[in-house]
Amino acid sequence: MNTVTCIEDLRRSARRKVPRPFFEYADGGSYAEETLRANRADLQRIKLRQRVMVDVADRSLKASILGEPASLPIALAPIGLCGMQYGDGEILACRAAHAAGIPFTLSTMSICSIEDVAGAVDKPFWFQLYVMKDRGFMRALIERASAAQCSALVLTVDLQVLGQRHRDIKNGMTVPPELRLKNFLDIATKPAWAISVLRGKRKTFGNIVGQIKGMDNVNSLTQWISSQFDPALSWKDVEWIAGLWNGKLIIKGVLDVDDARIAAKSGAVALVVSNHGGRQLDGAPSSISALPKIADALGSEIEILFDGGIRSGQDVFRALALGARACLCGRAYIYGLGAGGEAGVARAIDIIRSELDVTMALTGVKNVRDISHQNIAAI
Ligand code: GLV
Repeated sequence: MNTVTCIEDLRRSARRKVPRPFFEYADGGSYAEETLRANRADLQRIKLRQRVMVDVADRSLKASILGEPASLPIALAPIGLCGMQYGDGEILACRAAHAAGIPFTLSTMSICSIEDVAGAVDKPFWFQLYVMKDRGFMRALIERASAAQCSALVLTVDLQVLGQRHRDIKNGMTVPPELRLKNFLDIATKPAWAISVLRGKRKTFGNIVGQIKGMDNVNSLTQWISSQFDPALSWKDVEWIAGLWNGKLIIKGVLDVDDARIAAKSGAVALVVSNHGGRQLDGAPSSISALPKIADALGSEIEILFDGGIRSGQDVFRALALGARACLCGRAYIYGLGAGGEAGVARAIDIIRSELDVTMALTGVKNVRDISHQNIAAI
């Protein structure tokens, strides 16, 4: 990595190092990517209130997420296919998160399986669940997460039908990657990526392949999701899942205050205000614009987490000021992973930590828990 000072540097580096289909899978959004852009644009519009001559010598970024201590108020979000950004990407990202003192979330659509990650790290991680039609498989997946001592189950509720990602289709993304004439140059010019992925434990979806009938080779993500995911999913199924899972449940993907009210009564301890990083309903409002109303209405009943467009410590500050307890960072760490494996993820977390720390100093806030709407100058 050349001199890296911000997440955008990691993004540029990842774009050079990771084959285009996988970089764009993570980087892109659905349809015209309007919501993807709105997530960033609306965060940038929020101006912070500069305060001077406040003693900020002693600052603390320490947070509490789901009642557990965290060294700063962020967690790594569930991202599919981490192991295609860098070999064994899920294990490396989990190690970096744990070393930094923050939670890591493993996606159902990961390359390394729950057991691969559990066997390679020494602290519990969160597991993200997609609900598939095969309820026997769901039950088994929940039992596997429980056996691996996952400390929270993150139930994603906004992706039972896939928002089309034009870039994935145009790039002909497959998992495992197939070497074709079309992508030969792309892969041949990224030897470090090829070596790391070849050395990785797995080349396809570790939690799923071989576990569901007819799913021995999952190469088209869209086809697979439309055949396996259950579009009939409802809050009743959430009750069923809450009954099977003997631990903390997080509902991820709520953007509407009416849905948030139901989520707060579902047995979940937290909800994530999220539009799936602009990857699902294109035309949906930005996550940050949905946050204040949900936090004001339900912040005293359920822990409010946030994702969607976080690329800096300033962005984390903005979300906290508008009512989030903590933020989930997705692309910000994925760029670090593609750019430099475990060290790249550690760098991404460090960048956000240091930006948040300086932002607190310049807004006159000593304790991250004191960040509030008082710290906003204008929206
Ligand atoms: C899966 O979660 C995706 O957004 O691709």
